[in-house]
Amino acid sequence: MPQEGPFVLHVLGARPNFVKAAPVVNGLAGLGVRQGIVHTGQHYDALMSDVFFADLGLPEPVANLGVGSGSHAQQTAALLVGLEEVVLAHRPELVVVYGDVNSTLAAGLVCAKLRIPFAHVEAGLRSFDRDMPEEVNRVVTDALADILFVTSPDGLSHLSSEGISPSRVHLVGNPMIDSLFAALPKLDPKPVQERLGVSGRYAVATLHRPANVDEPEAARELVDAVLGVAEQVPVIVPLHPRGRGRLAEAGLVDRDGLKIIDPLGYVDFLSLVRGAVLVVTDSGGVQEETTMLGVPCLTVRPNTERPITVTHGTNRLVTPAQLPAAASKALADGAVTPSGELPVLWDGKSGPRIATIIEAWLRGDNLSPASRGALA
Ligand code: UD1
Ligand code: UDP
Repeated sequence: MPQEGPFVLHVLGARPNFVKAAPVVNGLAGLGVRQGIVHTGQHYDALMSDVFFADLGLPEPVANLGVGSGSHAQQTAALLVGLEEVVLAHRPELVVVYGDVNSTLAAGLVCAKLRIPFAHVEAGLRSFDRDMPEEVNRVVTDALADILFVTSPDGLSHLSSEGISPSRVHLVGNPMIDSLFAALPKLDPKPVQERLGVSGRYAVATLHRPANVDEPEAARELVDAVLGVAEQVPVIVPLHPRGRGRLAEAGLVDRDGLKIIDPLGYVDFLSLVRGAVLVVTDSGGVQEETTMLGVPCLTVRPNTERPITVTHGTNRLVTPAQLPAAASKALADGAVTPSGELPVLWDGKSGPRIATIIEAWLRGDNLSPASRGALA
């Protein structure tokens, strides 16, 4: 890493952050920009954190705040205190935050109060559902960010209607898809299938949204729906730690057609998904990855902040009650993409685009809309 020049600090805390950040970190490294990662410790299990640093080749963090879990107030408060200290200690020229988790929101607030510029990667997504903690995080982070990197065109109109100046906004595509493309040569379903004792057709399910897993009644409804899928095709569930107990109480346990396992590392997970005939999820990122891998995806949510995965991908929104029938249709039809086109700029080059814009910004060149167009 260079010894001199402006310093960029990336704030990462949770599983999806790591996947989004790797292409940006690599892009900046390629341009010789001085940088470091702060790990907030929001996710801390080896399978929720360390394995991603290894699989994605992320450098060791310069600090780990170890904030851990808690209520929103407890966790956000710990994040604010820890991040303020670390930002003051490193005095970066720019902080980069990712996605919509509590670590993202806290880092944005700290920077705004310290008057340190920050960039938000994956700005502009909206579910318009304030029951989702992530939606609050998105709106606040975008309102405060100095540079906003948007993954899909709908994000541009959301930000514009919230009064955010287009001069701060850059449509760059999706860095999560850069990570997927980089991993593609390593995505072999066979070894992970063998390890799990899976043969033939199978589905993969991931479930962790509070609305699905926190309340006993919602969890029961969801588990019944997943069991309805498991009657049609074996379902493997790499289970997020959130709601593990609640879902088990509701009947999500190893049984005929249903295999519950620990969360998988990034390469193992995507390998398993690549070989699946169906994915059932409530994840944000998994909706995008299945679109690019051409695997049918049923998202058990009333809305999505990623509608492009429905219009330009393999994703369908379903209620728990609709899930078994939707699975039966998806298993019969295979992947169907309504528009026949993949999302624009999801081409594996978003990290370099973001890095180029950041590097120019660090040099004092706030790239004009025209030069930004050329970059795309
Ligand atoms: C967080 C994000 C969510 C994102 C998800 C990605 C917020 C508000 N939510 O949700 O947007 O989709 O990460 O996975 O930031 N736990 C462990 N080990 C860990 C981490 C968590 O056991 O390494 C358990 C703890 O019981 C904890 C619970 O999971 O209380 C929830 O963790 P937390 O980070 O608060 O939220 P997530 O549900 O993971
Ligand atoms: N993922 C993984 N192992 C798993 C489940 C998910 O590596 O067992 C990856 C997945 O490929 C995606 C990211 O984790 O890149 C998404 O994280 P998550 O679903 O936890 O968060 P969200 O996208 O919903 O915020």
